[in-house]
Amino acid sequence: MKRIVMLISGRGSNMQAILDAKPPVEFAAVIANKADAGGLAIASAHGIPTAVLSHKDFDSRERFDTALAQLIDTFQPDLVVLAGFMRILSEGFVRHYEGRMINIHPSLLPAFTGLHTHARALEEGCKLHGCTVHFVTAELDHGPIIAQAAVPVMDDDTPETLSARVLQQEHLLYPAVVRWIAEDRVTLENGRVRVRQDQIDATVALRSPD
Ligand code: GRF
Repeated sequence: MKRIVMLISGRGSNMQAILDAKPPVEFAAVIANKADAGGLAIASAHGIPTAVLSHKDFDSRERFDTALAQLIDTFQPDLVVLAGFMRILSEGFVRHYEGRMINIHPSLLPAFTGLHTHARALEEGCKLHGCTVHFVTAELDHGPIIAQAAVPVMDDDTPETLSARVLQQEHLLYPAVVRWIAEDRVTLENGRVRVRQDQIDATVALRSPD
């Protein structure tokens, strides 16, 4: 079974969705860069080892990233899952985990990299919005796309209502991708991802149950 380390900074709802989905993996650890990250208690409740490494204890991004990689590697992960880990990662760190680190971003990439994606999608008058799971590369919120889920944008949406609709899809999409990787169904070739799967997985299973 693949060993997974998840990195979080906050409430950890995506991490929880992944844990609750019980993919065939070994959850080696959940690591937060903030001691008050709500997701830590959820991980502990699931019996997953947790650790905190505060970026505030380091005087440069590179030093923090080096220490973080050392900590992560003590758990010998096959896959590093960024689940709301709100840090820009240095090139060396990203290269170290090339092809084995994934992220979820709350937009249909390559649109709206960075922050405030829901407000920006509304400002642009988008009719579709959504989320993307991708392999992590040095350029922020770029990297080969593994899967996406789209939601309609309603006329009366606020950033909050739109964010909630997207988050529902995040909670379906991210566990699905972790399962696909666990089952060795995801391959990365020449910067493009292929997922070996039934059509049913891709189109039906990701829809919200309601
Ligand atoms: C999610 O919207 C995710 O797409 C983004 O950060 C947020 C994390 O939320 N990367 P949570 O901590 O998983 O609840």
